[in-house]
Amino acid sequence: MSAVILDGKAIAKQIQEEVKEAVVKMKQERGITPGLAAVLVGENPASQMYVKMKRNRCAEAGIESFGYELPADTSQRDLEKLIAELNANSKVHGILVQLPLPDHIDSDKILQAISLDKDVDGFHPINIGRLAMKGREPEFIPATPYGCMVLLQEAEKLVPGFKISGANAVVCGRSNIVGMPMSLLLVKADATVTIVHSRTKDISEIIGQADIVIGAMGRAEMIKGAWLKEGAVCIDVATVKVDDPAAPKGYVWKGDIEFEVAKERVAAITPVPGGVGPMTIAMLLKNTLHGAEVALR
Ligand code: GUN
Repeated sequence: MSAVILDGKAIAKQIQEEVKEAVVKMKQERGITPGLAAVLVGENPASQMYVKMKRNRCAEAGIESFGYELPADTSQRDLEKLIAELNANSKVHGILVQLPLPDHIDSDKILQAISLDKDVDGFHPINIGRLAMKGREPEFIPATPYGCMVLLQEAEKLVPGFKISGANAVVCGRSNIVGMPMSLLLVKADATVTIVHSRTKDISEIIGQADIVIGAMGRAEMIKGAWLKEGAVCIDVATVKVDDPAAPKGYVWKGDIEFEVAKERVAAITPVPGGVGPMTIAMLLKNTLHGAEVALR
């Protein structure tokens, strides 16, 4: 059996088109342009690239973006002051503070300083708390796990018999950005969720029981194809640069899951790159549009 390849790039493009149409409508009917403030502290090359990609996609969707590139030695106080200004700025409907922040910054305090109505990353503890609670809904869902859920919903359409509700899901990784909110979203969607991490015993056996596997550890091909249950649906969040002298660029991108073996065994899998990555940005655009809708309420 060869797996369905869940084409995140194509689905993200479709979502971006829908956002673009809604932005045009909002401008025409309500006279406002959704705006995203993207705050970057320091010069982490990966963060610089992500913020650039986010701002480029905003421009394509007609969303205004405001970039704030601050030096690595920016003080906690100055960063909090900027957040307060952005909270008060009516042109800004979403505030994204790219993580990780430099070590001297208390990230928790920064995330708490963001207005709940502009928390397009969904990392404010109140939003995360609502995600965790039965019968409560967050105003914003963190973009990467949100994108993973959309990919799983796509798998429901493409894989006969596959349903998120009632599935055994294994989330590999427990980060605040992906693993933890992903687990909470899967619980909300009525899956039975196990979280595995670096201290878990018998990971291969646990993964072997899973109908859904989420790779969110950032450890290249740590999840072996042979471990996976036949017919599982696999979502790979990791993008790890691995040296490969035979590759044209001298490196290749790998996910957490051993793709070449897995794709002959499972029912559906995301590629790396071109799976979860584009979905993260598409969901951020959707969240920013939602931020503008919140402002109009
Ligand atoms: N760093 C890695 N992923 C993310 C994300 O989704 N949002 C922010 N703000 N920082 C990140």
